[in-house]
Amino acid sequence: MSEIIWTESQVIEHWPKRDPASHKGDHGKAGIIAGSETMPGAAALCAAAAVQSGAGLTSVNTVRSVIPVVAAYVPESTFYHRDDDLNEFLDGKDAVAAGPGIGRLSDDVIEDLIANFEGPLVIDADGLYHLNRHEVMIRKRTAPLIITPHTGEMARILGKDIEYVNANRSKAAGNLAADYGIFVVLKGQNTIVADPDGALWINPTGNAGLAKGGSGDVLTGMILAFLGRYKAVQPAVSSAVYMHGYAADCLVKQGEAIESVTASKVIQSISASFSNL
Ligand code: APR
Ligand code: MG
Repeated sequence: MSEIIWTESQVIEHWPKRDPASHKGDHGKAGIIAGSETMPGAAALCAAAAVQSGAGLTSVNTVRSVIPVVAAYVPESTFYHRDDDLNEFLDGKDAVAAGPGIGRLSDDVIEDLIANFEGPLVIDADGLYHLNRHEVMIRKRTAPLIITPHTGEMARILGKDIEYVNANRSKAAGNLAADYGIFVVLKGQNTIVADPDGALWINPTGNAGLAKGGSGDVLTGMILAFLGRYKAVQPAVSSAVYMHGYAADCLVKQGEAIESVTASKVIQSISASFSNL
């Protein structure tokens, strides 16, 4: 398996220019299935990151109590209630992300998405908890599937321990991606993006300020927005991973203490980091 660093020049080379005459429909209709009564922030962070990353329209499918929380943090988003018809929510979406803060009991929606959503689908966090149950459907799926496990989530998917994943990051990500025919984003220092053809793209950005709850939800929102704006999946995912780390690096360079980096501050840093490129 070849390992290639996804550099700043590749990010710049693939950056989609915003056509001066474009309208919101040209920049991706993004769908987010996230949040639950005890984890409203995950949905808010994911939606805010998508909006800041250029998504044309951001729509959040969540539980009733979470809607006002997200609406206050991200007034640009629209909402669907979790109990309403999923197909209606999926209609017209260019890309969908599911999982941040949904809780481990929400597996029906994940199954439904894998089987029925025909665009790029990102599954993160608790959405990955029962992933193995859907192995047959994942192999059958033809539209892109992108999973974004941290080390512990990856260990669970593989049925191995965390030590195994830490010692075999490239092999673990590469084999799973090739076996299932999916994109695997194995997070942590030097996040790996493994594509279904066996290539491994290594991320050079980011710092330990990101080792704090909420960072992953921001990454999921960024990947989602990039998928809606790019034609090809791998450059979209690798560039989103790069910019997530770069936004955190910019904060530290500007004097933010590494301990005080937060997911919300990373979202606020997205704009300046895009302009810096
Ligand atoms: N260096 C660079 N990047 C890092 C580092 C580091 N040392 N540590 C973390 N990151 C990045 C990861 O690469 C990833 O993009 O921060 C993000 C962290 O994502 P997650 O681990 O998914 O964290 P998050 O979901 O925000 O919070 C943890 O996940 O499993 C659940 O129960 C857990 O609620 C908790 C939540
Ligand atoms: Mg996470």
